[in-house]
Amino acid sequence: MSSVVAVILAAGKGTRMKSDLPKGLHQVCGIPMVSLIGRAILEAGIQRRIAVIGHGGELMQQVLGDGYEFAWQHEQRGTGHAAQMALPLLEAFEGTVIISPGDTPLLESKVFAELVQTHEANGNACTLATSFLENPHGYGRVIRDSEGLADRIVEHKDCTPEERQTKEVNAAIYCFQACALREALAQIDDNNAQGELYLTDVIGILRKKGLRVEPLAFQDPGVLMGVNDRWQLAQAAKILRERIIRKHAENGVTIVDPDTTFIELDVEIAPDATIEPNTILEGATKIGAHSVIGPNTKIKNSTIGENCTVLMSHLNKATMHDHSRCGPFANLRPGAVLHCNAKIGNFVEIKNASVGESAAVSHLSYIGDGCVGNRANIGAGTIFCNYDGFNKNRTEVGDDAFVGSNSTLIAPVTVGEGAFVAAGSTINKPVPAGALALGRARQEVKEEWAIHWRRRKQGETSK
Ligand code: UD1
Ligand code: CA
Repeated sequence: MSSVVAVILAAGKGTRMKSDLPKGLHQVCGIPMVSLIGRAILEAGIQRRIAVIGHGGELMQQVLGDGYEFAWQHEQRGTGHAAQMALPLLEAFEGTVIISPGDTPLLESKVFAELVQTHEANGNACTLATSFLENPHGYGRVIRDSEGLADRIVEHKDCTPEERQTKEVNAAIYCFQACALREALAQIDDNNAQGELYLTDVIGILRKKGLRVEPLAFQDPGVLMGVNDRWQLAQAAKILRERIIRKHAENGVTIVDPDTTFIELDVEIAPDATIEPNTILEGATKIGAHSVIGPNTKIKNSTIGENCTVLMSHLNKATMHDHSRCGPFANLRPGAVLHCNAKIGNFVEIKNASVGESAAVSHLSYIGDGCVGNRANIGAGTIFCNYDGFNKNRTEVGDDAFVGSNSTLIAPVTVGEGAFVAAGSTINKPVPAGALALGRARQEVKEEWAIHWRRRKQGETSK
């Protein structure tokens, strides 16, 4: 839709959020509210997006980035004033202008698509989304004329008792003919209960000019679900969360307990994966087919292959190749890579290190800044001492090597292919391939020492 431009009004402070962050940047399922609207607009085939920004505007520009044009509203004087700020960017534009609020995270692309479709098909000067509410308190009321077209919108605070009875409310999502919008915005004033420039006044102005303004009623409650405080934010997140989980379930993912599963919007999960209870999947996480994730697991920005198992673990920027396993209680930090069939057991932390094919780090280890070769075995309690107080150094353990339990490998150091490190060793020199390294005190045995010692002690206490 090249002749359509969308304007998102997002300059408001959102006082009731009680936040340092501008309202539109609060996230719902991992995505800022404004970005959710921006995505829905794009999905509806509308390429050109203008954001009207004010409070936290610089941050807003950073977060929204290149896909948007920005209009500044330095002083928040109402929705009509905000729309006026976008006009310089639309000076020569003659198509359709969508105006949408920036705080309705559940809006879906089909609302924009339907609005534009009706708007253009019927040659309207304005088409506005409305909804019927049992309790319309607080919303602008849409007053229709005898033909069922919109006559005007009256804000709740400006309503007569009779107008207040109207159950049809303004969803604040509109399509305008660009020139009609420009002309009407030039005529609005702040002569109302809130002393603001209302965008809603444009409706009455267009109507008085004899232009066609059509209300399009939507049943979907998401159209109206504006977020003004943190509780509404939580409610919106709950609804979006369910939509996301449901979509995965419909795609063939087993969701064992929807009530305790939290999946952010951009997570990708292949069919036949299973998500166990108390699992949180965030960011750009990808899960392959037949993998079982959870319970009690949090994964962020990580890629998990097919047939993997992640049990009660924490992953951030980690990669697991097919058939690898981790947990319970594994911590895979940024740069952790598990190759095919690798196995990471309980209380193992891996950071910026790879674990080779069919290798095992089964218990109580720290593997930082290095690599473990294919089929290598790292015994319980092995520590890669990667940090000397100044630099992070690497530890490299070759293919088929065996590192005995409770070893400390002081980086930089290498353990060659097939080498053995005796349990309890401290290794600070290279271990050649095929060698055995012992880095511990030699054991001394004193025959019968314990018997004599105990006798002596017992003699002392019986005196
Ligand atoms: C608006 C409508 C009301 C409708 C309701 C639906 C007006 C006058 N009223 O009221 O009819 O029923 O939405 O939720 O439009 N904004 C700015 N700059 C401003 C003021 C607002 O950018 O100076 C932005 C806000 O950031 C927000 C959007 O405009 O994203 C809506 O503003 P808000 O103050 O929430 O309007 P409502 O009072 O809810
Ligand atoms: Ca609002």
